[in-house]
Amino acid sequence: MLDIHILGTGAMACLWASYFPTRHNLHFIQRHSKAASFDFEKKPGNTFISGHSLTKDTVRAPIKHLIVATKAFDAKAALDNIHQHLAQDAQILLLQNGMGSQQLIGQAYEQYAVYACSSTEGAYKSDPHTLVHAGIGQNHIGAITQLAKNEKLRQWLPAEHFIWQADMEPILWRKLIINSVINPLTVIYQCRNGELIQQEKIRQHMLLICKELDELLEKLPFKLDSAYSLATGVCQLTANNYSSMYQDWQKNRPTEIDFISGFIVQACQKYSIACPQNKKLLAQVRQLQSH
Ligand code: PAF
Repeated sequence: MLDIHILGTGAMACLWASYFPTRHNLHFIQRHSKAASFDFEKKPGNTFISGHSLTKDTVRAPIKHLIVATKAFDAKAALDNIHQHLAQDAQILLLQNGMGSQQLIGQAYEQYAVYACSSTEGAYKSDPHTLVHAGIGQNHIGAITQLAKNEKLRQWLPAEHFIWQADMEPILWRKLIINSVINPLTVIYQCRNGELIQQEKIRQHMLLICKELDELLEKLPFKLDSAYSLATGVCQLTANNYSSMYQDWQKNRPTEIDFISGFIVQACQKYSIACPQNKKLLAQVRQLQSH
């Protein structure tokens, strides 16, 4: 029996909670909570999952196994809030989209085993206590800090739910490229992922964005497919889904745009690549979310 702490109660937090055998104790750490427990139902399958509900002030046990399932812009602050409760040999799994937050946390928490996950699982909450596992995908996990090792992770994370990656960098970039095309465009055109390739006007816009991303990809020390083929592949596979950014924007929540297009624009600047289309996307989504 292990104690598993999970920061957050969003779709990814619940999905990971559902992977653990019932003999383990789940502890959900939330910003505010008056309840003693946090329960949800997972669909399809109608499984009920229950855990303790904690805040940073009610966490007791030293935290040994931690999953950080907040959005990218909240992740480091949420971890800083509970860092005094981390056991010396704590293992920390980061689930954030985009790039930047994993590297920041890796630097600040170098003395711990920190891992990052890049997921193709599709999940959303239809209400605060219902998780819908809409699309079965894969979780690719690799090390962010030196202490992070596959053997250590397997001691607590169910092996059937992840694929170990010896080099996480290309995996995180691949997902970043996909997110930087799909997510902002679905907000701007207010559409499902599939419509990006079905509507010619949007597809043309997508091509302009991908051209700049391909220039950036050429500067990286590993080879990935072209941005357009990466993005269109995912648009086809997830045609009926609304992207996570679209869902955040719809619910008036802040989006992860700074960790997606923001990171892309910074990387282009580093390599002196002009990226007017990606800059425009970043500005448009920032403006839309401020209204
Ligand atoms: O952020 C998302 O929604 C997903 O990562 C993706 C791959 C764009 C599919 O919707």
